[in-house]
Amino acid sequence: MEKIYFHLPTKIYFEKGGIEKYLPEIKNYGNKVLIVSGRHFIFKSGLFERIKRILEKERIEYSHFPEVLPEPDTENVEKGVKFCKKENCDCILAVGGGSAMDVGKAIAVRSKNPGKVEDYFGEKEYENEPLPVIAIPTTCGTGSEVTRYSVIVYRKENTKKTIRSEKIIPKLAILDVSVLDTLPPNLIAATGMDAFSHSAESFLSIRKDKFSEIFSIESLKLLWENLQKAVEGDEESKEKVFFASLLGGFAINKTGTIIVHGMGYSLTVKYGVHHGTANALLLPYVFEYLYNNGYREEIEELNKIWGNVKNLKEFVESLGLPVRLRDVGVKEEDLDELTGLARVGCERALKNMKIKEIDFKKILTSAF
Ligand SMILES: [Fe+2]
Repeated sequence: MEKIYFHLPTKIYFEKGGIEKYLPEIKNYGNKVLIVSGRHFIFKSGLFERIKRILEKERIEYSHFPEVLPEPDTENVEKGVKFCKKENCDCILAVGGGSAMDVGKAIAVRSKNPGKVEDYFGEKEYENEPLPVIAIPTTCGTGSEVTRYSVIVYRKENTKKTIRSEKIIPKLAILDVSVLDTLPPNLIAATGMDAFSHSAESFLSIRKDKFSEIFSIESLKLLWENLQKAVEGDEESKEKVFFASLLGGFAINKTGTIIVHGMGYSLTVKYGVHHGTANALLLPYVFEYLYNNGYREEIEELNKIWGNVKNLKEFVESLGLPVRLRDVGVKEEDLDELTGLARVGCERALKNMKIKEIDFKKILTSAF
């Protein structure tokens, strides 16, 4: 059999009401918690009150950094680092979607290590062990609660860069589906498609193995069957989609993503398109291209789930998400620049692929 490497140090609780039940365990990881979150959802959803009540009841000290931007950049992280040091926190509780967890992980690294956030892009050695990260995901997409990635916008290059290290994988993840009660349907669709993209891209990565394959296939089946119903508000389907996003996290933690994510970054940075929406939009065109350029066998395998690669666009459309670049503000004259940005954004992705030459312009033109 093929070689397998599997490392997952995250203690996971997947349970409705799990926040009340398991958050007290955070005492095992530090003396003062830094809650890292976005500016609105944590308050509007009532989640902050819930967390506060638990921490106070357990007499756990905490500070709150509710400043994470929807697309956090290096400056946003540095602000958090400063706050974390000032407040003397020794443990991070990241509450939110991918952005909060990305920033939480980056603060964990930088608070204990000198220099700038950008010094830690890529896979670096750390002088000091990062702070422990505990994650409470509030969307059904990123899988970041179990991954070694922290993705941060790097304005100098108009793209996103990734900090990668097993040392930033959260120690504890609490997946409590009740957090999805207040997530708007369009975000269930977009983040669900992010998970879909993780699992589909993972399956095409040259770094996949038997483990990651099992996770990505199961995740895709669950999403294909449940995402639409989840968007319509069905409780059971929401829980399945939430689970599927966790599985997608396992898959990409091993394999990384490929060019859907790499190409999507510039849509987010340049046009403000939601990360999941960007992936959802590009995925059908990328997969159709790859089907005809070296990935027929793999995609035939996935066609067992979704029938035909041509069905992907209809699926995305049925979720109420845009399916053409022109629908998200891209102009025809932008395509050359986007092609250049795709090349930069996909440098890393290409390392996970068996073909090294991609006609980005062709994919972008068809997506336009
Ligand atoms: Fe993603």
